[in-house]
Amino acid sequence: MKAVHFDHPGPPDVLKVIDLKVPEINKKQLLINVKYAGINRPDIVQRQGNYPAPPGHSTILGLEVSGIVKKIGSEVKKFKVGDRVAALVNGGGYAECCVAEEEITFKIPKNISLQHAATIPECYFTVWSNLVMRGKLTENQKVLVHGGTSGIGISALQILRLFKSDVFTTVGTDSKKKFCKELGVQNIFNYNKEDFFEEIKIREKDGIDIILDFVGGDYISKNLNLLKNDGKLINIGFQNGSKVNLNLMKVMLKRLTITGSTLRVRNTSFKAQILEQLKKFVFPYFENGKIKCYIDSVFKIDDVIMSHKRLEDGNHIGKIVLKI
Ligand SMILES: NC(=O)c1ccc[n+]([C@@H]2O[C@H](COP(=O)([O-])OP(=O)(O)OC[C@H]3O[C@@H](n4cnc5c(N)ncnc54)[C@H](OP(=O)(O)O)[C@@H]3O)[C@@H](O)[C@H]2O)c1
Repeated sequence: MKAVHFDHPGPPDVLKVIDLKVPEINKKQLLINVKYAGINRPDIVQRQGNYPAPPGHSTILGLEVSGIVKKIGSEVKKFKVGDRVAALVNGGGYAECCVAEEEITFKIPKNISLQHAATIPECYFTVWSNLVMRGKLTENQKVLVHGGTSGIGISALQILRLFKSDVFTTVGTDSKKKFCKELGVQNIFNYNKEDFFEEIKIREKDGIDIILDFVGGDYISKNLNLLKNDGKLINIGFQNGSKVNLNLMKVMLKRLTITGSTLRVRNTSFKAQILEQLKKFVFPYFENGKIKCYIDSVFKIDDVIMSHKRLEDGNHIGKIVLKI
């Protein structure tokens, strides 16, 4: 089968398409004939050598796929050969065939294409588990999401709409700002022109309930300052660095929670719990069109280098997808 491979970490040019043996499945797994694979920032970090596959996971890039079931293990009950599915996978997505665990594979919600389905797993599992399960999000809270037009950001903004949250977001350009406005967000700050910290401090005297951040760096102390009493800072990335000099006094005085998580290393049963909640609370909104999958661009597997360059340039709005 065709699969994307790199011999050593480095820039996008290290990626190449090679021929590999089709992987074996165990009795609880399925083999998916991959049609599309979603591209995520963690793939870039893995390619750069800073996010190796956990033990037992495929070293091939790709954490989410959509496609057609090609083979099932002897104990698989919920799927049959020929089903249209999407899955959160333990690596291996950038390939013609990918192994998926039954418990974190799902039938594609009605009205969603295979191309769109590939963009769902990584971001929706991550956002739901952090904002709702970890952050205990409830209705009508004030929530700040940094990077509103990233894959993660767009998923978060749409989930927050279901919770009638008062949403704040940051973006790097005016066109990204316009996009977030069309998504219904009221408070959008272009961080290259506006100081989100000063603006929110003036507008929201009582502060913010929850902040979802993957920027880190100097945002960490600004985030802590913007939170209200008992507020929560949830970090799911540190694009601008994780080492900072911090005055933690506000954590004590405002009873703040600083938390975070990373999805990939969690076990299948935890990921299956997230999927059950998504099926119940989010998938109906994919089916009725209230939540949409926003795709920035689609690249053929042979153009995988271009797809990584597009993500790294940072001009994308929404997800980048690989057509296998
Ligand atoms: N912990 C987990 O389980 C987990 C899982 C998935 C992803 N992640 C993390 O989540 C982040 C987003 O992932 P993704 O796949 O959605 O990536 P993505 O689409 O490439 O998003 C990255 C975004 O960061 C924004 N950004 C950069 N600097 C910023 C700043 N100073 N302020 C606000 N926004 C800024 C960029 O947009 P602008 O042009 O607006 O700057 C860009 O759109 C990554 O850091 C990734 O590693 C974590």
